Amino acid sequence: MLIGKWVVILEPNLKFSMKLTNHQYQIQGLSILDICEQYTAPLYLYDGNKMVEQIDLLRSAYQDLPLKIKFAAKALTNISVLKLFQKQGIGLDVVSLQEVHLGLLAGFLPQDIQFTPSGVSFAEIQAVVDMGVMINLDSLPALEKFGEVYGSSVPVSLRINPHVMAGGNAKISVGHIDSKFGISIAQLPQILAVVKDKQLTIKGLHVHTGSDIFAGEVFMQVANVMFKAAKHFKNLQFIDFGGGFKVAYKKGDKTTDMHALAKNMHSAYAQFCEDYGKKVDIYIEPGKFLVSEAGYFLVKTNVVKQTPNATFVGVDSGLNHLIRPMFYDAYHDMFNASNPEGDLQTYNIVGYICETDTFGNQRQLNEVREGDIICIKNAGAYGFMMSSNYNSRFRPAEVLVYNGKSHLIRQHETMDDILRNQILVDVTEADLVKV
Ligand code: LLP
Repeated sequence: MLIGKWVVILEPNLKFSMKLTNHQYQIQGLSILDICEQYTAPLYLYDGNKMVEQIDLLRSAYQDLPLKIKFAAKALTNISVLKLFQKQGIGLDVVSLQEVHLGLLAGFLPQDIQFTPSGVSFAEIQAVVDMGVMINLDSLPALEKFGEVYGSSVPVSLRINPHVMAGGNAKISVGHIDSKFGISIAQLPQILAVVKDKQLTIKGLHVHTGSDIFAGEVFMQVANVMFKAAKHFKNLQFIDFGGGFKVAYKKGDKTTDMHALAKNMHSAYAQFCEDYGKKVDIYIEPGKFLVSEAGYFLVKTNVVKQTPNATFVGVDSGLNHLIRPMFYDAYHDMFNASNPEGDLQTYNIVGYICETDTFGNQRQLNEVREGDIICIKNAGAYGFMMSSNYNSRFRPAEVLVYNGKSHLIRQHETMDDILRNQILVDVTEADLVKV
């Protein structure tokens, strides 16, 4: 597809910012091969301008609603990415004390952060309260304890489980009746009893139904559960509808239509406010929507191996760096950045980990040669964040491109990182000493 001098190599419904021009793949005008040369593959490459574009898209879709965006930090907590988001004036959704620390370090104010823990210790909840951050409590026992310790002195919010099954797969569907998350909507009478007994100040209600949900009807079904429940709480300042908006991972993927959703949300919200007698803020917590498509994972080809049944492209990476294909059967589109004009051939793209770690089977790529850089798309969300040191391999570097400039935001690991916190004890000798 030709747009001016740009050749957009992707399907029209996929709005990636990677472009092919002058026989080179570029991101914000920078050649990705040059970036690989400078920072060395394997590396995660993020397009900061694309992230900002996604925020703008949400803001324009929801312009008639009092919207606050809270980036689901767990998708990508590199502090330079968090800083970029902080500069855009959005807030954060965090799930651990450590993520609160990262958020504060990146310049977020405590009041811009929501803590949505799942079954954490009460000590962790107290530590976060001490930092001035709003908590979405997710169990009746935690609510009782919170009431005993803080009574009405610290406002709090409640995570509701709406009993709605939705999400890209079972592992990321979390709003159904069998899920561990939230306080069941069926337990509303018990919630109200504790709130009354402990004189709790409930400032918000929260819900997160799952990830990779494209159907606007699901979000509206959940919204209606929440608006109905909200009428039982007199002092609400916000309702937090969580994240889960679906982005395209491949051609033909259905994605959440944000403008249509915002429109439906607007009428349900207007009706709610009329019944409720005042306005509340609307929060959303997008993770994938803000960073998935902005991220590319660049890996180098170690070997091209022909077997009787297939041609394998073995790269200098594996499930230790990007686990989504193996863990969720996730499909990540990819291309050969080094040979854009090579003949198309069919390959299985695999990692170097000593168990099956397939990035993609039966993929059509321009001819792959040893040393070629393979670019894996949709790597911004839950890519680096779910990486590990399995096989005692180093985790990759991260590079953030913004306004045509590249910045190293995490260096490659070294042997020091593998050894950090390990203690060499020769236990056979230790026993001898004791004897
Ligand atoms: N809010 C809460 C409370 C969440 O638990 C999550 C994600 C989000 C917001 C953001 O969801 P998103 O907009 O990114 O779908 N590792 C999985 C996804 C796990 C999502 C967990 N919770 C994956 O790679 O697909």
